Order: sequence, then structure tokens, then C-alpha cells
Amino acid sequence: MQVRKILTACFTLAILAAYSAAVSAESAGSIKLPDPETQGGKPLMQALKERMSQRSFSSKDIPLQVMSDMLWAANGISRPATGLRTAPSARNMQEIDIYAAMASGLYLYDAKTNTLVKVSNDDLRAASGAQPFVKDAPVNLIFVADVSKMGKMAAADADFYVATDTGFVSQNVYLYCASAGLATVVRGLVDRPALAKAMKLRSGQKIILAQTVGYPG
Ligand SMILES: Cc1cc2nc3c(=O)[nH]c(=O)nc-3n(C[C@H](O)[C@H](O)[C@H](O)COP(=O)(O)O)c2cc1C
Repeated sequence: MQVRKILTACFTLAILAAYSAAVSAESAGSIKLPDPETQGGKPLMQALKERMSQRSFSSKDIPLQVMSDMLWAANGISRPATGLRTAPSARNMQEIDIYAAMASGLYLYDAKTNTLVKVSNDDLRAASGAQPFVKDAPVNLIFVADVSKMGKMAAADADFYVATDTGFVSQNVYLYCASAGLATVVRGLVDRPALAKAMKLRSGQKIILAQTVGYPG
């Protein structure tokens, strides 16, 4: 009888713990993305032909499936056994994080769990660039290097690697957008100190580029 009571209490506690974890993830506003659709899309040569920068965006939201596919294309895990990514990175440092500034807040793409982890409730789209379209486009990606993942190296080497590694991620976004009929433009015109402050970045994090994504305006 005693054992049964203990088992019932453990079971109840486990259910309560699972429930409160789910509630806290939900209330924190993180978004579990659907699994990326890694089949299909336009043939590579056609996507390359149609890749371009566009600066006019509709305010229409991007569906979660499209967000998942785009982020996976950008820098998702393509080889789960090793954790390797769709974009190469120098020495496999995987130091480039993707943040997404959207109307509902600022999110960090966690490729391992395929989740947009909410890091702020603030709408930081306007802070992500000076050009007029950034504040209304549904998504502004911000590529941030986590220098703490890079080990010891000369500053010039680190700058070279983070810029190069970001270029691959950005081009993946360009090609996905060309394939999926989305508009995009990568942007270097960013007030990095102001944006880093608004994003509350740590001292080892460095904003490299931003990239606006949405349906064509
Ligand atoms: C590193 C880098 C920074 C850029 N910064 C901006 C920017 O701040 N604003 C912008 O509208 N376009 C920016 N662009 C986009 C270029 O202007 C664009 O790629 C170029 O005009 C060629 O056009 P295409 O991408 O359609 O081939 C940037 C491109 C690169 C590679």
C-alpha cells in the first residue's frame, strides 16, 4: 500500500514537472519549429540564376514551416551524427549564431533543438538597420559571432574567419529565398554598437551582418 502511494506521488510529481516545463517554455515565448522540409525546392542552377538582393518587402508573416526551412538552409544541422552544418565554418568553429528580430520579439535559432529561443520581447526590427524597409519586413536576421567559441588567435584572423563564415550563411539564405520566392537583402549598414546594446549581447559577441527576409513587396 505504502509503495503504491509513493509511486502515485512520484507519477503526479513527474506529470506536474513536465507540465510546468511546458508552460514555462510556452510562457517564455520560444517557438519550437516544425521539422525542416529538406526535399524539393528549385534546382540549384535556377536558384543561382534567381538569387538577388531585393529591398521591397510585404509585411506578411513568414509561416513557421518556411522559417524552419530557411534557418536550416542557413546554418542548420545537415549531418546529425557529427553535428555538422549546411554552412562551412573555419576549423568547424560554428561560431556564427543567427538571431531573428520579428514583431513579437528577438529570437536565437537553436539548430540542435530546431527552436527559436526567445531572448527579448522587444521588437528590434527598426534597430537592426537604417534602411526604411527593415522596420516593417517580418524578419531581420542578425548574424552574430560568438568569439568565445574561437579559441586563441590573432584579431585579424578572427575577423577574417567570422566575416567569411557569415558570408556562407548569408548566401545559403539568399539561395533558399530564391528557391522559395522570398525577398532578401544582406546588410552591412548596421549601427552595431546600438544594436548590440538593444540585443543585450555579451562582450564576446560581435554583430557581423544583418539580412532582411520577407515576401516581395
Ligand atoms: C557584405 C555586404 C554588405 C551589404 N550591405 C548592404 C546594405 O547595407 N544595404 C543594402 O541594401 N545592400 C547591401 N548589400 C547588398 C549589395 O548591395 C548587393 O549584393 C549588390 O548590390 C549586388 O546585388 P545582388 O545581390 O542583387 O547581386 C550588401 C552586400 C554584401 C555582400
